[in-house]
Amino acid sequence: SSTGEAFRVVRNPHAATDAERAEKLRDLAFGLQFTDHMARVTWTADEGWHDRRIEPYGPIPMDPAASVLHYAQEVFEGLKAYRWADGSIRLFRPHANAERLQRSAWRMALPELSVDDFMASIRALVELEHAWVPDAPETSLYLRPFLIGTDVFLGLRAPKRVDYLLIASPSGPYFPGGIKPVSIWVERDYHRAGPGGTGAAKCGGNYAASLRPQMAAYERGFDQVLYLDAATGSVLEELGGMNVFAVRADGTVLTPIINGNILEGVTRSSVIRLLEDQDLKVVERDITLAELRQGIEDGEITEVFACGTAAIVTPVGRMASTDFDVTVGDGQPGPVTAAVRERLTAIQYGRAEDPYGWMHRV
Ligand code: COI
Repeated sequence: SSTGEAFRVVRNPHAATDAERAEKLRDLAFGLQFTDHMARVTWTADEGWHDRRIEPYGPIPMDPAASVLHYAQEVFEGLKAYRWADGSIRLFRPHANAERLQRSAWRMALPELSVDDFMASIRALVELEHAWVPDAPETSLYLRPFLIGTDVFLGLRAPKRVDYLLIASPSGPYFPGGIKPVSIWVERDYHRAGPGGTGAAKCGGNYAASLRPQMAAYERGFDQVLYLDAATGSVLEELGGMNVFAVRADGTVLTPIINGNILEGVTRSSVIRLLEDQDLKVVERDITLAELRQGIEDGEITEVFACGTAAIVTPVGRMASTDFDVTVGDGQPGPVTAAVRERLTAIQYGRAEDPYGWMHRV
């Protein structure tokens, strides 16, 4: 079958009733509830991508020798569908996720799913599950597309069988409590990525490797971890699941440059555009920890924030490591952070016009 072809639908006979769904959509947290169906496409070396279908959400039986279980052949995406006040459903920059999934797949020697197939899977699933798109403030239908190697072979090779799946999770905020500053531990012993490694790919292994440092940070009383580059140990990269920005008192905004080690965040690039259109100068370059720390201490750097699809824009109120502990500004959300978060979410939820063509009606 060919790219962009329709998805056949196998309905879930046990789909939630209206009352059950309403109950599940109450007081939503992030990533705990799932809709009744999922999309799936299978790839084999012989047939390419085929068997585009929507099927009941549920366990995916797998051979214990499936290659993903041994060699971590997995890449994923995250994007959201928003309920607007007029009842319509909109996606935020879905093509950017489709293209990044292709780049991630390429890096992990997985087959690339076409942008048409990616879009068709999202449209088919969100149309079928439209009633699952929540309408409470700060909620959305979080979409999680992913690829897994399902080759039944213990030899290490690019898999000859791969499955693409798309699941959907009606979700509330990743960090509950509105725009509340998080504290960050700057990690000195572990790195997220190295030159030539997989830092730019959205592969599960990057996130798995972030959890030991994350646990240590929790134990010290910090919310998140900021990684430094592996080559010199002095340049900022990103958090475990978010990109980072620093705002200077002179109105310049700094963020680490895309260098093959950091994730090319869709929220990151959107935030850059929004800041520039508010007449702020955004500079993408190497930022050293020394510069950041000194800047925060001197008041040269007034705000630090993190951003990502799940986290949106989250202020950083405190940064520390083995040899320092600083409060950013007065520890409260700064004006640039608050304004860019408001501008971004206003576009996403349809409270403001979208001059960028970012929102796609389903
Ligand atoms: C996202 O922000 O969508 C991600 O994929 C990050 C993950 C840690 C939730």
